[in-house]
Amino acid sequence: ASALPQVEAEYLIIGGGIAGLFTAWAAAQAGAQVTLLTKRSIVESNTDRAQGGIAAALGQHDSPELHMQDTLVAGAGLCDEDAVRILVTEGPDRVRELIDMGACFDRTGDHLCLTREGCHSQHRILHAQGDATGAEILRTLYEKVVALPSVEILEDQYVVDLLVKGNICYGVLALDQISGEFRVFWGQVVILATGGSGRLYNYTTNPEVATADGIALAYRAGAEVMDMEFIQFHPTSLVLPDAPRFLISEAVRGEGALLRNARGERFMPQYHGMAELAPRDIVSRAILSEMAKTGANSVFLDLTHLDADKIKERFPTITLTCSQYGLDITKDLIPVAPAAHYMMGGVKTDLWGQTSIERLFSCGEASCLAVHGANRLASNSLLDGLVFGGRIVQKATAILKNRITNRPEFGCQELLSDPDVDFISLRTQLQQIMGEKVGPLRTAQRLAEALAFFDRWAYLKNYEVKETFQMEVRNMLEVGELITEAAMMRTESRGGHFRLDYPETSERWRKHILLRR
Ligand code: SIN
Repeated sequence: ASALPQVEAEYLIIGGGIAGLFTAWAAAQAGAQVTLLTKRSIVESNTDRAQGGIAAALGQHDSPELHMQDTLVAGAGLCDEDAVRILVTEGPDRVRELIDMGACFDRTGDHLCLTREGCHSQHRILHAQGDATGAEILRTLYEKVVALPSVEILEDQYVVDLLVKGNICYGVLALDQISGEFRVFWGQVVILATGGSGRLYNYTTNPEVATADGIALAYRAGAEVMDMEFIQFHPTSLVLPDAPRFLISEAVRGEGALLRNARGERFMPQYHGMAELAPRDIVSRAILSEMAKTGANSVFLDLTHLDADKIKERFPTITLTCSQYGLDITKDLIPVAPAAHYMMGGVKTDLWGQTSIERLFSCGEASCLAVHGANRLASNSLLDGLVFGGRIVQKATAILKNRITNRPEFGCQELLSDPDVDFISLRTQLQQIMGEKVGPLRTAQRLAEALAFFDRWAYLKNYEVKETFQMEVRNMLEVGELITEAAMMRTESRGGHFRLDYPETSERWRKHILLRR
């Protein structure tokens, strides 16, 4: 490592979604110097795509206790109650800070507009520009952070590996994808805010960058990962030939849209008392069951009974995107089906974002402190990034008082070269396997077939790969295997993990699966 160009940082943050940017902002407010690396451009993140909104108990009849109750119900018995209490009590202040920073949430007069989504007992979801909430938050945070002299944002930096020795993280090795240069970034503390894993699946609402890199990096370096089996499949992604699985926000159902099967029948009331606004895992499975019953490749969202002008104003992004594919959402039924959306598991942290490796922190979707349990409550993810990103700074400030001055030597691992593999085809196979065998409906047989696939490619770990696309695929293999292993171990059904061969929830499984290399 000493032969490569070196960059020194106090906070070295990997990832530029809400969690990374808010941590950068909070660290800079605490007087620290920050270097923030993003894999591609800063706008490529799940945050940018978040439509529905951000949940916070700000309504007149709402309270953190009610928000906590709803989060626990959705989490299906696996939430860490302390983490949830922090989320719902600190959340409103973090959202007010966002507003003070200039985030324009939708209002009627002076009042914030609050909508409902699945499993929420109250109207508590703030939104911006109708259905472009994440983009508005990203714009606000980016404009603030980029203007700070103490923060440097470097885009197109692919983090190859964490530099960990003696269970201390000293920094990362990164490849500049523009110049092709490898560099070492040293950090007094390193924060993984690398986001989700949706691209491990053939059908996902996530952008190309969501390949679970942070979890793979942390696991390879010896960190504990937790709850890897819990993947949330969003019930309603657009299903049209040649269209990406564009998200049709749950807020659409919050505003009164109904789900109908291919025969035109409304079905959700038969599955759950909250009908279209039942927890996401229940709606997703109901949709799959209706698809199987009718032999169709989708069900349909019906907004035709709602006020057309209001719908267009409330959901401009969805209206526009669907119109590009010839659908008028106020007149036509929207074909939808579940798609991989969010990962509840990730790098295990404590309530301050500390991982099991010293000086390595994690926040946002890459991390797991069981705040979402087995199934995240809608619109709690942006809130999670804010609350737990901010808390990292409180702990790291104390750690920074004890600075690293001597670093160990990091040599290169001897690896074989040129594996002679078609990585494009391998990635497609992996996504197919994950979708078919480790998707919303799992069995021991399907999971065993997926594990056999991962075994077949395990030898690639001994090879050096030089292109970022190949490195990404290697990370996807690593994390896909972890998801599958955990899913095989959990012989029950709970939240985002459903086993056709173990359909019941078992009290004996009210515990977490922790994996460590
Ligand atoms: C949505 O708008 O339905 C997505 C919001 C979320 O994932 O929480």
